[in-house]
Order: sequence, then structure tokens, then C-alpha cells
Amino acid sequence: MEVLIIHGSPRKGQHTDKALEAFMLHAEDIQHHVYLYDDKIEYCKGCLYCGKKGICFIDDDMKKLYDLFESVDKIVFGTPMYFNSVSSAAKVMIDRTQVYWSRKYEMGAGITVKKEKKGAFILTAGVKHDEESIVAATKVAEIFFKAINCTYDVEIILDHIDKNPMTSEDSRLLGISEKGSRFFS
Ligand SMILES: Cc1cc2nc3c(=O)[nH]c(=O)nc-3n(C[C@H](O)[C@H](O)[C@H](O)COP(=O)(O)O)c2cc1C
Repeated sequence: MEVLIIHGSPRKGQHTDKALEAFMLHAEDIQHHVYLYDDKIEYCKGCLYCGKKGICFIDDDMKKLYDLFESVDKIVFGTPMYFNSVSSAAKVMIDRTQVYWSRKYEMGAGITVKKEKKGAFILTAGVKHDEESIVAATKVAEIFFKAINCTYDVEIILDHIDKNPMTSEDSRLLGISEKGSRFFS
């Protein structure tokens, strides 16, 4: 079993990474960690090249992710909430998966990521949220997972985190580890 962990925060070891670490605590799977703020991933130019050729013309670190989307069994995607959505680097990466929608709708090629996967989405947010105010972020995650043939299996929202940062003994981390353990069993 192989799992891809997408780290969508620029702040290593902070809220999002802590949550990801807790979620992965009992995972024995082979782990591929991608730190979006370390990688060089260009934003989508909207050039529609992918609608004609079925691939993106940009030669950068996104290639590694395109390969992993074809091979891993599970994806854990963690991001801080930025302006009610995902982080900028996460959004840039997600826009580049437009290549799969282009293949499907421009080229009529259907779902071209053959590997079916399960996905977990972890969102950390500074202030308190309700259903309505997290929907921009969760809908982005949902359509991203759909593009890469990944079932949206687990959703973890850690809100009001800035005033209540997690300590190592935090009960919230325990809850996340339990969800991770179920996801990987
Ligand atoms: C640019 C920016 C935008 C943010 N926008 C929001 C927001 O819209 N809603 C919110 O609840 N928190 C917002 N926050 C707070 C972060 O979501 C929160 O601190 C998050 O847990 C940070 O995760 P990290 O510690 O992994 O970086 C924002 C923070 C930054 C830096």
C-alpha cells in the first residue's frame, strides 16, 4: 500500500503538519511526502494545451505528482484555510489537475487516472467555522479528489486553532490518530 501525503502549509511542523502527523501515526504504508511550498509548481496558464494534447506543457515538479496520482492507493491532503479556501500553493497544484478534466471533456477520453484511490482531507483554520463557511475549502478538495479519481472518504476540520494551538497531549490529536487508523486499516 502506498500513500501520498500532500503538505499544503508553508509553515513546517505547525497546525497542519501536526494534524497530518497524527493522522499518519499508525500508518505502516509506504509514504510519499510532498511539501507544496518546497516544490516548484507553476500556476496553470489556462492555455488549453491539455485540451488538445492531453498533457500539460509545463516541465516542473507537478510531473512527480501526476505520476503519484497514477500509482498511490491513498491520498492525505492537508492545508490551512486561507481566505475561506485552501492555501495558495494547494490551489496552484489543484488547478494543474485541470489536465484530467480537459482530457475528459475536451478530448472525450473519460476518466484517465485509472488508479482508484481513497482520500482524506484535513483543513486547519484560525477561527471558528460553521458548515457554510468551510464549504469553499471542502468543495475545492472535493473537485480535486474527483479529478484524480479519488473517493472523498475522510474530512477533518480543525477550526479555532490559532487561539487553541495543539499540544503533544492534545485530545484533538488523539481523535485524528483514531480516524487515521481507521482510514489505513
Ligand atoms: C494568508 C492567510 C489567510 C488566512 N485565512 C483564514 C481564513 O479565511 N479563515 C480562518 O479561519 N483562518 C485563516 N487563516 C489562519 C490559518 O488558517 C490558521 O492559522 C491555520 O491553522 C494555519 O495552519 P499552519 O499552522 O499549518 O500554517 C489564514 C492565515 C493566513 C496566513
